[in-house]
Amino acid sequence: MELWLDTAEVTAIREIAAWGVLRGVTTNPTLIGSAGAPFRQRLKEICSIVEGPVCGEVLATETDEMLSQGRELAAIAPNLVVKLPITPAGLAACTQLRSEGIQTNLTLCFSVNQAILVAEADATYVSPFLGRVDDTGNDGTALLAEIIEAYRTQGYPTKVLAASLRSAQHVADAARLGADVATMPESVFRALVKHPLTDIGLRRFLDDWKASGLSFDEA
Ligand code: E4P
Repeated sequence: MELWLDTAEVTAIREIAAWGVLRGVTTNPTLIGSAGAPFRQRLKEICSIVEGPVCGEVLATETDEMLSQGRELAAIAPNLVVKLPITPAGLAACTQLRSEGIQTNLTLCFSVNQAILVAEADATYVSPFLGRVDDTGNDGTALLAEIIEAYRTQGYPTKVLAASLRSAQHVADAARLGADVATMPESVFRALVKHPLTDIGLRRFLDDWKASGLSFDEA
C-alpha cells in the first residue's frame, strides 16, 4: 500500500519525503486555501518535490468548466492527477479526461454504488472518506472493505485510495483490507513511526553502550 500525505504544506512534504517512503500527495480546496498559496503555483511546487502522483482538485461544478480546469491542472506536471467530485458532471469530465490520457481521482466517495460509477468512468483512483463516514456514526472501515470486495469481484482496475484517515489505526486497517493507497495528514504520518517501546528500547541500548566504555571506532 502506498503512503501519501494529505496536505498542501511544503515543509511537511519535504520533511516526510526525506524518509524515503512518501509515494504521493493529495490536496483539496480547503488544504490549499489554508496554506494561503496561489493554487497552481503551490501544486507545481509539490509536483517538483514528490516524484509520485500529486492530486489537485477542480473548483468547477459543470462538466465543460471541469474539463478546462482539469486540462490546465494536468499541464502543470506529468505527475499531476486531476481530482473531481462524484457528481454526474464529475463522472462525465472523468470519462473525457481519461480518454485524453489524464489521470483522475474521484473524491468524496461515501457508498459502494458511487465507487462502481467511478470505476465505470475509468477513473485512476477512487477516494472513500473513512473519517467523515465515522463522523456520521457509521463505519468508514466497513465501507472501505465493501468497496474493495466489489472491485475485486468485478475486476475493476481503478485504485482504491483510502482518504480522510484520522489515526494510525485507520492506516493499518486500510493496509489489512487491501487498499492501494492511504492518504493522511502529517500528524497521522508521523504517528505511524512512533512506538513507546522503540523509544525505551533505543534509550536502553544507547545507555548500555555508553556504560560499556567501548567506542564505535575501535577495531
Ligand atoms: C483526500 O483526498 C482528502 O483531501 C482528505 O483525505 C479529506 O480528509 P478530511 O476529512 O480529514 O478533511
